[in-house]
Amino acid sequence: MARCFVTRQLPGPALDRLRADHEVEVWAERLPPPYEELSARAANAEGLLALLTDRVDAALIEHCPHLRAIANYAVGYDNIDLDAATARGIAVGNTPDVLTEATADLTFALLLAAARKLPEAIAAVGAGDWLTWEPAGFLGQAVQGATLGIVGLGRIGRAVAHRAEGFAMTVLHFGGAPEADSAVSFEELLERSDFVSLHCPLNAATHHLIDAAALARMRPGAILINTARGPIVDHDALRDALVAGTIGGAALDVTEPEPLPPDHPLLEAPNLIVAPHIGSATRVARERMADLAVENLLAGLAGQPMPHPVGVAV
Ligand code: DGY
Repeated sequence: MARCFVTRQLPGPALDRLRADHEVEVWAERLPPPYEELSARAANAEGLLALLTDRVDAALIEHCPHLRAIANYAVGYDNIDLDAATARGIAVGNTPDVLTEATADLTFALLLAAARKLPEAIAAVGAGDWLTWEPAGFLGQAVQGATLGIVGLGRIGRAVAHRAEGFAMTVLHFGGAPEADSAVSFEELLERSDFVSLHCPLNAATHHLIDAAALARMRPGAILINTARGPIVDHDALRDALVAGTIGGAALDVTEPEPLPPDHPLLEAPNLIVAPHIGSATRVARERMADLAVENLLAGLAGQPMPHPVGVAV
């Protein structure tokens, strides 16, 4: 029986399976454990089930001499110092596939909402500002037949491309699957796309990939959608582009930082939708993520290969 620290209550029955075999402490608060608390609670743990809100860096790993397995409750694992874990022989796993369709759905929900000015239109009704049917009211952009640029044609990018077929969109992509017909350079994607949707992981190469220069290359009126990771977009540059009106809008499910403080300058920009990182938030996806995270942890603690490894223990 190993000691495990789980950094939040998870939906579904998965944690019961972990409790059946191991001694499990679950952080029961709504907010994540502060870093010092995480470090203190994980210090004696052999297994850690972490969320994307937990920074599992080299110092924390160093502070946990017994740690053998880390299961991240997310497909992205930029919150974990993989090199530090691997150097210590700690297995690390993530939760791919089970959130792909949910995240692709949310991407399209944001794309449609931004294209058709849905938040403004709904807000107008709430504010008593629906005075009549107006020929030039809330004029948005056509999605049917438009060009969609996907940055990162991995699992989620492909699922978004699949949805785009239903709207007869032309799909371009940059990153992943260079052999596909839709592959173009980053610059061409920005210059040709009516919608640019981000689906790449966050790493050194993609940090602030969408900067002032990238935004300046986008078509006038183009809409940026980010359901990947906030720091892929330079928020100051995005704010400037929205305020100047050089792009048509942005719809973000992820921001830098998260949560975005209510007084963050980006929130003053026009034509902006911000959702609170809900890409995978369907019951079935979040319960399956819990299943996968627990399966990873059980395997790692048993000294077996994780079903969904991202770091191979040395
Ligand atoms: C992930 O899994 O990486 C998403 O951002 C949250 O579901």
